[in-house]
Amino acid sequence: MGVTKIVHEQGQGLFYFRIGLFRHIVVSMNAKSAEAILTDSKNINKAAEYDFIKPWLGNGLLTGFVNNSNMMYLHFFHFFRNGQHWRKHRKLLTPTFHFKILNKFIPIMNEQLCRLITFVEDKISDSDRTVIEDIRPIVTNCTVDIICQTAMGIESKAQNSWNEWMKNGKDQNRQTTENEYTKAVRSLFDIILYRILSPWLHPDFIFRFCSIGRLFQQNIETMHQFTNNVIMKRKQILLKDHESNPDETTDQWIKRIGDNGRIDFLDLLLINHIMDDTDFDLVSIREEVDTFMFGGHDTTSTSLQFAMLLLGINRDKQQLVHEELDQIFGDDIERNITYDDTKRMSYLEMCIKETLRLYPPAAFFARSITNQFKSNNCTIPVGTTFIVLTYAVHRDPTIYHKAEHFIPERFGPDSNMSHNPFAFIPFSAGPRNCIGQRFAMLKLKIFLSTILRRYEIRSITQQENIELDFAVISKSNTPIEMEFIRRFSKISN
Ligand code: HEM
Repeated sequence: MGVTKIVHEQGQGLFYFRIGLFRHIVVSMNAKSAEAILTDSKNINKAAEYDFIKPWLGNGLLTGFVNNSNMMYLHFFHFFRNGQHWRKHRKLLTPTFHFKILNKFIPIMNEQLCRLITFVEDKISDSDRTVIEDIRPIVTNCTVDIICQTAMGIESKAQNSWNEWMKNGKDQNRQTTENEYTKAVRSLFDIILYRILSPWLHPDFIFRFCSIGRLFQQNIETMHQFTNNVIMKRKQILLKDHESNPDETTDQWIKRIGDNGRIDFLDLLLINHIMDDTDFDLVSIREEVDTFMFGGHDTTSTSLQFAMLLLGINRDKQQLVHEELDQIFGDDIERNITYDDTKRMSYLEMCIKETLRLYPPAAFFARSITNQFKSNNCTIPVGTTFIVLTYAVHRDPTIYHKAEHFIPERFGPDSNMSHNPFAFIPFSAGPRNCIGQRFAMLKLKIFLSTILRRYEIRSITQQENIELDFAVISKSNTPIEMEFIRRFSKISN
């Protein structure tokens, strides 16, 4: 925060430091310098730190390497790193986030949210209100359930095991009730962060021989084994299905499966693989499914927690959301939310954007400079790590009046925000922007509207008491205590 303030006051958008003799780091802290890197189509490779996630995500979109250098020796080196893989996959995966496909995920979201509502209703019982000591685990478990089902079609039952644990007493070891996969994901996140912050663990040959490195490897094996099993089982089912309809095209097949029930990302990738396995082999499918699990899990969970916190504090803004939802649903709190409903939630969307501005889940992201480029009249040489500090870009007082305040109207139709697209970059921008942003916005809207249709929420925890953890995904280290008050006297699920 201190550095952010100094840099903004001096009108500088860049900040430089060095780690050891060779690691040169440039940090971009305003829209202008962020724009320079995000529009540079030659510098789109991720920084070396992303390699720590590679044993899990391999060449999946997030960590995938792109051959873009104009230096001959790098061309030679990159030849072995399959430089075109990312481009091909990005192109093939983009249609899976089309609204027609996203629409098919809505029943999954509605169903998982129903579980969350049941949990709140059990707590409220006959009274009209209840206090939840910490909303973070219930929000996280619900988003885990949604991402497992939408990415792989599996029921992780994170909410069920949490509810059981709450009912059966907290002395029971929670770990034993959790699905092995989600347990391994959580452990892996902790280890990656610990490694980033511990330079002595950066070299692979040291990390591998430490106990934490061995635990990391065990988790990777658990997760890969799990995803591989799910993929193989699903592939067998789809192959049988294809035998009964051998003349269908890829699009017809996807449509039929979607129309008959639900479709998930894995089905979409497997159908492409079965129809033309040159682009998506089974390893690539595993890498992309794991990447969606990584990208779609903590990011949405932490955004939802902050959105609830901010709406629970700024209750005049919450009132406006209630009015908007009442126009869409009236007092019908049972009807499932549709895609068209979400398009009408424009004020809620403004609140979500303002939350993502104040608390961007990816507080920073980094590129490795492979082609010399200019930013704010500075030449950034090859080999530099260029970090975009979204958190600082989003709090630049020269762009945002009262930058620390929650003012959703900034994103309203009358605001001038659209004049500077690089001042609001929670999903990054340019060629390596977030492929899942429409999915994320849909999930955030469905989640928040499900809660706010039924309850008024009041944050007992205040914003100034929140201790932020700038981890791989930034989150609150402080429990978020919240009161839920029924808006309509009778609720049944
Ligand atoms: C609020 C929710 C989300 C936020 C704030 C967010 C943010 C971001 C950001 C900042 C990046 C760029 C990272 C970088 O350059 O290092 C990114 C990339 C990515 N995100 Fe998201 N994300 C969210 C949700 C999702 C979801 C739900 C999915 C998938 C289901 C997803 C999948 C991805 C993938 C695959 C990439 C890599 C894209 C590429 O390099 O081609 N994200 N996300």
